[in-house]
Amino acid sequence: MKVGVESLELVYGEHRAVKNLDLTIPDGKSVVLLGESGCGKTSTMRCIAGLEAPCGGRITIGDRTVYDGARGVSVPPFRRNVGMVFQSYAVWPHMTVTDNVAFPLRMKGISRTESRRRALAVLEVVGLAHLGSRGASLLSGGQMQRVALARSMAMEPAVLLLDEPLSNLDARLRDELRVELRRIQLENGLTSLYVTHDQQEALALADSIAIMQNGRITQFGTPEDIYARPASASIARFLGVTNVFEVSAVDGHRVRLTGQELAVDELGDGDGPWHACIRPEHVRVDLTSGAESPAVNRLSGTVEVAVFQGASIRCTVRTGSGMVLEAICPPPPDGTLTAGTEVSVAIEARDIHLLPEHTTEYGEVVAA
Ligand SMILES: Nc1ncnc2c1ncn2[C@@H]1O[C@H](COP(=O)(O)OP(=O)(O)OP(=O)(O)O)[C@@H](O)[C@H]1O
Ligand SMILES: [Mg+2]
Repeated sequence: MKVGVESLELVYGEHRAVKNLDLTIPDGKSVVLLGESGCGKTSTMRCIAGLEAPCGGRITIGDRTVYDGARGVSVPPFRRNVGMVFQSYAVWPHMTVTDNVAFPLRMKGISRTESRRRALAVLEVVGLAHLGSRGASLLSGGQMQRVALARSMAMEPAVLLLDEPLSNLDARLRDELRVELRRIQLENGLTSLYVTHDQQEALALADSIAIMQNGRITQFGTPEDIYARPASASIARFLGVTNVFEVSAVDGHRVRLTGQELAVDELGDGDGPWHACIRPEHVRVDLTSGAESPAVNRLSGTVEVAVFQGASIRCTVRTGSGMVLEAICPPPPDGTLTAGTEVSVAIEARDIHLLPEHTTEYGEVVAA
């Protein structure tokens, strides 16, 4: 079922945690709310679930208004038909794994046999069927989190709200369950809102990503869009764009920054000031400098740190003009990169994006 959030406001004491927020989750789609710690993700989700009292705005689930500040409407959580998996998992330790999942179904008036059948089916999906009769207190953190996930799925809610449900899992399980979750989402056409601060998780699980900063949505788009075209330098940094430099002057398609001039393809929208943003994957590091077209910026420099990552090397290079660039590149075929290696760096003009520090939606910048 479609979820609509309009002009939502939530205040904790003096602190405005959610500011005039608009968000739509289309029916059957997965929207991921991605943002750094404290930006208001959990607060937004709790408002949709009915666990917080907002101070304005409107929330609809399907055709039903579940919250309307102006009309004084607020449907209690248990009547909203949403399932929520919390950041900190909560299982009932005195029950078995199967009972943890089946108990809420029994509370809904579903027969013992049917509750058990549904519980076992979702436990199969999350890979815990073999632990069904074990006491829930005897599970690892990751297994408990999967019980919590299974419990929400068993209720077959109209909307599934997931707040960092994979955060307590080890890396391998997290990768596996991420793919599994996406499969479940697509096969069942679940309408879901997924909260995370992990960009890989967001890219893998979303039909659309909503970037949240400072209590607001500052960019909304497909994972491909957001990855290729972050709307501001602050969003780009958050998405792993480690090379961000203040632009001091623009002259045609050449920009000046920290003692360096670079050719760019596209100029930024608006009036600036700009930040030149370059993904580390787009910084090529060569041991020799070859002939290049004018569309490629060539800089010479020295490797400061190089870290071997298996398929790639992550290194920082200091150029002659003092610019420090981070690069993620394949190991060079004709030698090794170590601290002190003299290199030639290539950056294509089309890979340099000129962006403002924040989007206009970001709102006031509060001095620290
Ligand atoms: N019950 C509360 N009372 C007062 N302030 C709160 C309360 N809950 C959250 N906050 C504040 O509201 C802001 C948003 O919190 P929220 O939990 O929504 O962040 P988040 O984006 O989920 O962060 P994280 O990624 O760390 O979970 C934070 O500054 C937080 O300190
Ligand atoms: Mg949170």
